[in-house]
Amino acid sequence: MAEKKFSKNILCIGAGYVGGPTMAVIAAKCPHYKVTIVDINAEKIRQWQTDDLPIYEPGLLDIVKQARGRNLFFSTEIETNITDADIIFVSVNTPTKNFGEGAGKSADLQYWEKTARTILKASKSDKIIVEKSTLPVRTASAMERIVNSNDSGVHFEVVSNPEFLAEGTAIMDLEQPDRVLIGSRETDSGRKARQEIVDIYANWVPRERIITSNIWSSELSKLVANAFLAQRISSINSISALCEKTEADISEVAYAIGMDSRIGSKFLNASVGFGGSCFKKDILNLVYIAESYGLREVAEYWENVIKINEYQENRFVRKMIAAMFNTIAGKRIALFGFAFKADTGDTREAPAITVTRKLVEEHAQVVITDPQALPNAKKDLEDILDRVEFEPDPYKAALGTHALGILTEWDIYRTLDYRRIYDNMIKPAFIFDGRNILDHDKLFEIGFNVYPIGKPAQSHI
Ligand code: NAD
Ligand code: UGA
Repeated sequence: MAEKKFSKNILCIGAGYVGGPTMAVIAAKCPHYKVTIVDINAEKIRQWQTDDLPIYEPGLLDIVKQARGRNLFFSTEIETNITDADIIFVSVNTPTKNFGEGAGKSADLQYWEKTARTILKASKSDKIIVEKSTLPVRTASAMERIVNSNDSGVHFEVVSNPEFLAEGTAIMDLEQPDRVLIGSRETDSGRKARQEIVDIYANWVPRERIITSNIWSSELSKLVANAFLAQRISSINSISALCEKTEADISEVAYAIGMDSRIGSKFLNASVGFGGSCFKKDILNLVYIAESYGLREVAEYWENVIKINEYQENRFVRKMIAAMFNTIAGKRIALFGFAFKADTGDTREAPAITVTRKLVEEHAQVVITDPQALPNAKKDLEDILDRVEFEPDPYKAALGTHALGILTEWDIYRTLDYRRIYDNMIKPAFIFDGRNILDHDKLFEIGFNVYPIGKPAQSHI
């Protein structure tokens, strides 16, 4: 018999923002494992096999190239790969349910359940199933019931290993994570499976950063981590509104409170609002779970984090309208940035979507520019494409506009020649810095009327 080339056969179901980078890093760090990623989306799998990857993420292509064809493979053959795998990470999408019971709040687990059934159908030997997707607490018990409902003698051990990477810094987050969390049943077979997953990460993550817990704590910790992060942004954003009324400066307040080591300085940038595929979805999920256990006060507490975010997005547009003499109808406005944050082309739940739609409702002419997100922006605004323009070059986007709105904190927007931009705008020219990334005094000197977040406006009018 030929010698076994790889010591473990790892499969990941779901080749998206999490499955792709996570498995690429495992493959790059562990040449002794075979890592295969499968997806039902054949086009995505095709793209993963080229240098034009389906997602933009700094450093990702280098990592993929290190391992692709050596021990990292992409495929649409889901069932055969399940049959061959020892460990199966499931990283499919778990969006908010938009129909039936729990619509608008609970997680839509249809992709998740389909995967469980496919695993059951294609397995001929024992497997460890790893929950990589973000899931409601206690999902593992449903997963166990589905997969262990077989009479073939095959045993499945379900382990939770939530992912904490942030887009734009995914590779760094995966290579040097603050922590890796692995939860399992506290049984002999549960602990053994958990140890197998610990062993994978121990190839490059210091052992003290790999933490283990019971499976429910692990599932819940992921939702809670996102809720706490989003809560910080809503907290600082709520105070930004107060700063604008009182001449306090949100950056100075954030700096002053962040110096307290109990509060800490990270994640205190006031903004037009948080976006991304997960914060809102995961908080809604938490709210739904709390409600379903009859914990109304807990649900309401977390729901307010989302309400403040919506308030902040709406407040940004209201400020634009008020500053521009209470009408923006027919006015040309350039939005700098459409991605939900810098260094990604992802636009899921981006504040730019809400802002654009509201400006269009007010009959403004909106021009959108972004270095990576224009293809996704076009999909998000599919129904109003005749009312918005897309222009990759920010200088061209700003030509003949009355106002600029900074919606994504891309570095390139910090260093543009704003005098040149100002000279080509209609006067009075306005700038609404939804990320507080620009030099506001300098912009004011150039002639702009400047409206930051949580800082006094500077107006010539
Ligand atoms: P994604 O939409 O980018 O990728 C999910 C992939 O799963 C898609 O390519 C889809 O085609 C595939 N898929 C769906 N059903 C399938 C099936 N039955 N068989 C095979 N493939 C299937 O989603 P994502 O952003 O990677 O998120 C995945 C999970 O990870 C979610 O639960 C999310 O909450 C969580 N998460 C995301 C991030 C992030 O930064 N995006 C970070 C941490 C956790
Ligand atoms: C977030 C978490 O940071 C990850 O740990 C988590 O794994 C991930 O969600 C997930 O579960 O999907 P991500 O959404 O990719 O990651 O990006 P973040 O850096 O958290 O930013 C989220 C949003 O908050 C962005 O719109 C960002 O611009 C905004 N933000 C962030 C602020 O407005 N202010 C800040 O101080 C920080």
